[in-house]
Amino acid sequence: MIHLTFALLLLYYYSHISLRLAQRGLHDQVLSITPKTQEQVDVLKNVSTQYETALWQPASPQFIKEETQVHLFVPANSSETVKDLLQTHAITHEVLLANANELIEMQTRNDSGDPRSSTTFYERYHSLEDVYDWINRTQQDNPSTVKTILIGSSSEKRPLYVLKLSLNNRPDKKAMWIDCGIHAREWIAPAFCLWFVQYSLGFYRQNQDITHILDNMDVYVLPVMNPDGYQYTWTTNRMWRKNRSVSKSSGCIGVDLNRNFDANWCTEGASNEPCSEIYCGEFPESEPESQAVADFLRSHKDSVQFYLSIHSYSQMLLFPYSCTLEEVENHRVLFEMAEEAAQKIRRYYKNTYKYGAGAKTIYLAPGGSDDWAYKLGIKYSFTFELQDRGRYGFLLPPSHISRACNEALIAVKTIALRVVEKTQAPTNPPPTF
Ligand code: ARG
Ligand code: ZN
Repeated sequence: MIHLTFALLLLYYYSHISLRLAQRGLHDQVLSITPKTQEQVDVLKNVSTQYETALWQPASPQFIKEETQVHLFVPANSSETVKDLLQTHAITHEVLLANANELIEMQTRNDSGDPRSSTTFYERYHSLEDVYDWINRTQQDNPSTVKTILIGSSSEKRPLYVLKLSLNNRPDKKAMWIDCGIHAREWIAPAFCLWFVQYSLGFYRQNQDITHILDNMDVYVLPVMNPDGYQYTWTTNRMWRKNRSVSKSSGCIGVDLNRNFDANWCTEGASNEPCSEIYCGEFPESEPESQAVADFLRSHKDSVQFYLSIHSYSQMLLFPYSCTLEEVENHRVLFEMAEEAAQKIRRYYKNTYKYGAGAKTIYLAPGGSDDWAYKLGIKYSFTFELQDRGRYGFLLPPSHISRACNEALIAVKTIALRVVEKTQAPTNPPPTF
């Protein structure tokens, strides 16, 4: 009885708080802030490391500088404190998302049970469990063309499955690799991997481009490189980025898997501080997720010609290097491939993607998978940042999935066709005179 009274009291207390917050119009929000002075930069750096806020853009406070837009997620309970602080320092802000909770609800709603719903499976976001089921089903429904390969497991011991699409049995076939969801909160990424697999299986022999690509290359798809983090964004914290491994020294959790690869590891643009969002880990490939991917690619490097990693958001087609300002030896070729892909997106979808070498286009970010793959010898190596440019950020509504994936798909096809062209031994040797 005492327990019941206590529970009711607690319930009353909490409903009262959330009611009060709602009455004052307080929700979890995303603010856009552009600091104008060094003082404002310092205040923002401070704010973003406190009050349970989550920095959306840039990925870490160290990249905040004058005149560049910051996107900051502010939970309802720190909203007032944060806004007061900004005001005290005469920092103006815009509200990018007035009610983030509503968008999160929209992203996690599963209307598959509703027969009136017109959206397909691929136009919704899926929990990790659903993704595992989908992997299973996809393999079972396509026994002659899809294989699943267990390449390792996560730090919380979840399996890492790669789907191998092999649409014909030509000897000595080349291959391409796509991974999605290195960063947990970038939900459009796993959605793209599923989209790509579905499209490949459905449009082989229907669409000329995908047919040509799949005739010449097998495709390895890792739908969720960071399953622990992804699961955590569904259950506990929608804004989580890193994996979920526990640091022995600090008690902080998570390594940024895209700073954990062996490419100028942990130099400028990464952090050796375990609590940082861009923590590089204890040593290169210290994390089971990055090690599994690296091991797999090392043992398939003779066939894999094209490496692609899918992220969000900001709409960019990036290629190495991100770990140094130096240019890669085939910079011109990669630049032209990215340019052609961006032009196709613009022509068919009226959308703008930036393109270029990572370090010069966004920031120095060492230890990334794309740079590592390049250094391994995979000369066509890219990272795509999908939609959008900040309107919804990581909370891209499900109704946008189809467009976001289709425009990314056209970019993948454009580049893959070029890779086939460049890496294929001519079937008929040119005539000699
Ligand atoms: N936003 C991505 C990140 O911070 C950029 C990836 C570009 N490539 C890279 N190797 N950093 O990880
Ligand atoms: Zn990312």
